[in-house]
Amino acid sequence: MYLIKDAEEGDLPIISELERELFLNEAWSYFQILEEFKNKFSKIWVLKREEEIIGYLIFRAINPEIEIFRIGIKKNYQKKGVGTQIMQKLIEFAKKENISKIFLEVKVSNLPAYSFYKKLGFEEIYRRKNYYNNEEAIVMAKEIKA
Ligand SMILES: CC(C)(COP(=O)(O)OP(=O)(O)OC[C@H]1O[C@@H](n2cnc3c(N)ncnc32)[C@H](O)[C@@H]1OP(=O)(O)O)[C@@H](O)C(=O)NCCC(=O)NCCS
Repeated sequence: MYLIKDAEEGDLPIISELERELFLNEAWSYFQILEEFKNKFSKIWVLKREEEIIGYLIFRAINPEIEIFRIGIKKNYQKKGVGTQIMQKLIEFAKKENISKIFLEVKVSNLPAYSFYKKLGFEEIYRRKNYYNNEEAIVMAKEIKA
Protein backbone atom coordinates (compact mmCIF):
# COMPACT_ATOMS: atom_id res chain seq x y z
CA MET A 1 0.00 0.00 0.00
CA TYR A 2 0.91 3.60 -0.42
CA LEU A 3 1.69 6.06 2.34
CA ILE A 4 1.48 9.81 1.79
CA LYS A 5 3.41 11.99 4.21
CA ASP A 6 5.25 15.29 4.59
CA ALA A 7 8.67 15.17 2.97
CA GLU A 8 11.74 15.30 5.16
CA GLU A 9 14.81 17.24 4.08
CA GLY A 10 16.52 13.92 3.35
CA ASP A 11 13.84 13.14 0.73
CA LEU A 12 14.63 16.21 -1.37
CA PRO A 13 17.49 14.66 -3.44
CA ILE A 14 15.12 11.88 -4.52
CA ILE A 15 12.41 14.39 -5.46
CA SER A 16 15.03 16.27 -7.43
CA GLU A 17 15.99 13.07 -9.28
CA LEU A 18 12.32 12.38 -10.08
CA GLU A 19 11.98 15.96 -11.37
CA ARG A 20 14.85 15.35 -13.80
CA GLU A 21 13.37 12.04 -14.91
CA LEU A 22 9.92 13.55 -15.49
CA PHE A 23 10.56 17.15 -16.57
CA LEU A 24 14.02 16.89 -18.20
CA ASN A 25 15.36 20.41 -18.88
CA GLU A 26 12.34 21.99 -17.16
CA ALA A 27 13.00 20.20 -13.88
CA TRP A 28 13.17 22.22 -10.70
CA SER A 29 16.65 22.20 -9.24
CA TYR A 30 17.45 20.79 -5.82
CA PHE A 31 17.77 24.38 -4.54
CA GLN A 32 14.34 25.40 -5.84
CA ILE A 33 12.88 22.40 -4.06
CA LEU A 34 14.81 23.27 -0.90
CA GLU A 35 13.50 26.87 -1.03
CA GLU A 36 9.95 25.54 -1.24
CA PHE A 37 10.68 23.14 1.62
CA LYS A 38 11.68 26.10 3.79
CA ASN A 39 8.76 28.32 2.78
CA LYS A 40 6.20 28.43 5.58
CA PHE A 41 3.25 28.42 3.17
CA SER A 42 4.55 25.47 1.16
CA LYS A 43 4.08 21.79 1.60
CA ILE A 44 5.91 18.92 0.00
CA TRP A 45 4.31 15.51 0.23
CA VAL A 46 5.88 12.25 -0.76
CA LEU A 47 4.05 9.09 -1.69
CA LYS A 48 5.91 5.96 -0.62
CA ARG A 49 5.57 2.33 -1.53
CA GLU A 50 7.37 0.51 1.24
CA GLU A 51 10.49 2.67 1.58
CA GLU A 52 10.57 3.85 -2.04
CA ILE A 53 9.41 7.36 -2.96
CA ILE A 54 7.33 6.96 -6.10
CA GLY A 55 5.56 10.29 -6.21
CA TYR A 56 5.51 13.81 -4.81
CA LEU A 57 3.37 16.91 -4.67
CA ILE A 58 4.56 20.47 -4.05
CA PHE A 59 1.96 23.12 -3.26
CA ARG A 60 1.29 26.32 -1.36
CA ALA A 61 -1.72 26.77 0.84
CA ILE A 62 -2.61 30.39 1.49
CA ASN A 63 -6.16 30.39 2.71
CA PRO A 64 -8.60 30.36 0.88
CA GLU A 65 -6.51 29.00 -2.01
CA ILE A 66 -4.07 26.25 -2.81
CA GLU A 67 -1.67 26.47 -5.72
CA ILE A 68 -0.11 23.28 -6.99
CA PHE A 69 3.45 23.77 -8.24
CA ARG A 70 4.64 20.27 -9.05
CA ILE A 71 3.26 16.77 -9.15
CA GLY A 72 5.16 13.77 -10.35
CA ILE A 73 4.71 10.02 -10.34
CA LYS A 74 7.67 7.79 -11.17
CA LYS A 75 7.35 6.55 -14.75
CA ASN A 76 6.84 2.86 -14.08
CA TYR A 77 4.06 3.66 -11.57
CA GLN A 78 2.11 6.00 -13.84
CA LYS A 79 -1.39 5.16 -15.07
CA LYS A 80 -2.14 3.03 -12.02
CA GLY A 81 -4.20 5.52 -10.02
CA VAL A 82 -1.30 6.70 -7.85
CA GLY A 83 -1.54 10.36 -8.93
CA THR A 84 -5.27 10.27 -8.23
CA GLN A 85 -4.58 9.07 -4.66
CA ILE A 86 -2.27 11.95 -3.84
CA MET A 87 -4.72 14.46 -5.37
CA GLN A 88 -7.63 13.00 -3.42
CA LYS A 89 -5.60 13.45 -0.26
CA LEU A 90 -5.01 17.09 -1.26
CA ILE A 91 -8.73 17.62 -1.79
CA GLU A 92 -9.47 16.16 1.69
CA PHE A 93 -6.77 18.42 3.17
CA ALA A 94 -8.32 21.43 1.37
CA LYS A 95 -11.74 20.68 2.86
CA LYS A 96 -10.29 20.46 6.37
CA GLU A 97 -8.40 23.73 5.94
CA ASN A 98 -11.46 25.58 4.56
CA ILE A 99 -9.78 26.09 1.21
CA SER A 100 -12.28 27.10 -1.48
CA LYS A 101 -10.19 26.71 -4.65
CA ILE A 102 -7.20 24.75 -5.93
CA PHE A 103 -5.26 26.23 -8.87
CA LEU A 104 -2.57 24.87 -11.13
CA GLU A 105 -0.97 25.43 -14.49
CA VAL A 106 -0.33 22.90 -17.19
CA LYS A 107 1.46 23.17 -20.51
CA VAL A 108 -0.84 22.93 -23.53
CA SER A 109 1.24 20.01 -24.84
CA ASN A 110 0.97 18.02 -21.61
CA LEU A 111 -2.16 16.11 -22.58
CA PRO A 112 -1.75 13.32 -20.00
CA ALA A 113 -1.65 15.89 -17.19
CA TYR A 114 -4.53 17.89 -18.71
CA SER A 115 -6.71 14.74 -18.87
CA PHE A 116 -5.62 13.81 -15.37
CA TYR A 117 -6.78 17.16 -13.92
CA LYS A 118 -9.99 17.16 -15.97
CA LYS A 119 -10.88 13.74 -14.57
CA LEU A 120 -10.33 15.13 -11.06
CA GLY A 121 -12.83 17.94 -11.77
CA PHE A 122 -10.48 20.79 -12.63
CA GLU A 123 -11.72 23.25 -15.26
CA GLU A 124 -9.76 25.46 -17.57
CA ILE A 125 -10.12 29.09 -16.53
CA TYR A 126 -7.73 30.87 -18.89
CA ARG A 127 -4.58 30.50 -20.96
CA ARG A 128 -1.37 32.35 -20.30
CA LYS A 129 0.81 33.05 -23.30
CA ASN A 130 4.54 32.39 -23.47
CA TYR A 131 4.75 31.16 -19.96
CA TYR A 132 6.87 28.13 -20.68
CA ASN A 133 9.30 29.00 -23.48
CA ASN A 134 6.80 30.13 -26.09
CA GLU A 135 4.28 27.56 -25.09
CA GLU A 136 0.88 28.46 -23.70
CA ALA A 137 0.01 27.37 -20.20
CA ILE A 138 -3.52 26.47 -19.21
CA VAL A 139 -4.59 27.70 -15.79
CA MET A 140 -7.05 25.26 -14.24
CA ALA A 141 -9.03 25.41 -11.01
CA LYS A 142 -11.27 23.25 -8.92
CA GLU A 143 -13.77 24.58 -6.41
CA ILE A 144 -13.81 22.82 -3.09
CA LYS A 145 -17.11 22.47 -1.34
CA ALA A 146 -17.02 21.66 2.35
C1 LIG B 1 0.21 13.58 -14.69
C2 LIG B 1 0.55 12.47 -13.67
C3 LIG B 1 0.86 13.11 -12.31
C4 LIG B 1 -0.67 11.53 -13.54
O1 LIG B 1 -0.42 10.55 -12.55
P1 LIG B 1 -0.87 9.02 -12.73
O2 LIG B 1 -0.65 8.31 -11.45
O3 LIG B 1 -0.18 8.46 -13.93
O4 LIG B 1 -2.44 9.20 -13.04
P2 LIG B 1 -3.64 8.18 -12.69
O5 LIG B 1 -3.22 6.79 -12.98
O6 LIG B 1 -4.16 8.49 -11.33
O7 LIG B 1 -4.68 8.63 -13.82
C5 LIG B 1 -5.97 9.14 -13.60
C6 LIG B 1 -6.57 9.62 -14.91
O8 LIG B 1 -5.76 10.63 -15.51
C7 LIG B 1 -5.77 10.49 -16.94
N1 LIG B 1 -4.42 10.14 -17.42
C8 LIG B 1 -3.33 9.83 -16.66
N2 LIG B 1 -2.28 9.57 -17.45
C9 LIG B 1 -2.69 9.72 -18.72
C10 LIG B 1 -2.04 9.56 -19.99
N3 LIG B 1 -0.74 9.23 -20.08
N4 LIG B 1 -2.77 9.80 -21.10
C11 LIG B 1 -4.07 10.15 -21.03
N5 LIG B 1 -4.74 10.30 -19.84
C12 LIG B 1 -4.06 10.08 -18.71
C13 LIG B 1 -6.74 9.36 -17.25
O9 LIG B 1 -8.04 9.96 -17.38
C14 LIG B 1 -6.67 8.53 -15.97
O10 LIG B 1 -7.83 7.78 -15.76
P3 LIG B 1 -7.94 6.28 -16.39
O11 LIG B 1 -6.73 5.53 -15.86
O12 LIG B 1 -9.22 5.79 -15.86
O13 LIG B 1 -7.88 6.46 -17.86
C15 LIG B 1 1.75 11.60 -14.15
O14 LIG B 1 1.49 11.15 -15.47
C16 LIG B 1 3.10 12.32 -14.16
O15 LIG B 1 3.83 12.30 -13.19
N6 LIG B 1 3.45 12.93 -15.30
C17 LIG B 1 4.77 13.56 -15.49
C18 LIG B 1 4.88 14.84 -14.70
C19 LIG B 1 3.80 15.84 -15.09
O16 LIG B 1 3.53 16.07 -16.25
N7 LIG B 1 3.21 16.48 -14.06
C20 LIG B 1 2.14 17.46 -14.25
C21 LIG B 1 2.71 18.78 -14.61
S1 LIG B 1 1.43 20.01 -14.73
